[in-house]
Amino acid sequence: MSAPDESDVVRFKRLAAERAVESIQPGMVVGLGTGSTAAFVVRRLAVLRREGTLTDVVGVPTSVETEALARSLDVPLTTLEEHPVLDLTIDGADEVDPRLRLIKGGGGAMLREKIVAQASRRVLIVVDAGKLSPQLGTRAPVPVEVLPFGWRSQALFLEGLGARITRREGPDGAPYRTNQGNFVLDCAFGPIERPEELAARLEARAGILEHGLFIGLTSELVVAGPGGVEHRRPG
Ligand code: A5P
Repeated sequence: MSAPDESDVVRFKRLAAERAVESIQPGMVVGLGTGSTAAFVVRRLAVLRREGTLTDVVGVPTSVETEALARSLDVPLTTLEEHPVLDLTIDGADEVDPRLRLIKGGGGAMLREKIVAQASRRVLIVVDAGKLSPQLGTRAPVPVEVLPFGWRSQALFLEGLGARITRREGPDGAPYRTNQGNFVLDCAFGPIERPEELAARLEARAGILEHGLFIGLTSELVVAGPGGVEHRRPG
């Protein structure tokens, strides 16, 4: 039963996460994403572990926040050093286009999320239907993690690519720092015509450590909305 104050969006996130967890098999090494949808994955995993269904699953967290949540729920964790290849990663996204290209990094974790996704045999993305978009950049800015050294030069470079830049701030108004201690520049490009080309330009720039465009990484999508829960696999 839904919690009384659970909004539709939160319920869709939870339903998508719970469906995605059905893809986890005993013995798997699973990448644990970051964000509110991925947190439902960790919570569901903890319940199934307590019930004795998935006792020998270990997780690789994609952020300090996810690590703390998993530890608080007694979900066993491992590292990429111990398990450099993962069976499955389940993670959220901020925007998903019809080709399952993504914008991620609303939680600032895109560097670790991309490392874990690239180390995974399967990447299952879980979203509420509001994240679906006809064209990336329509709904969300592209977060770009930059080294604090020279960050203003990166901001100018990104403006030159057509972005409106906001340096992300924490709740105290100080610059937000990623788990690696870097800044995030949220880059509002508007609808992005050629995300692959933009990704390549970002990757060629020193001082840009990662960006939130995830292209060619999604193997499956679970999306929940008013019409129900749908698991899309490659055709
Ligand atoms: C974290 O850095 C992001 O990539 C999240 O996966 C993304 O922001 C989705 O977050 P929610 O599940 O909280 O909407």
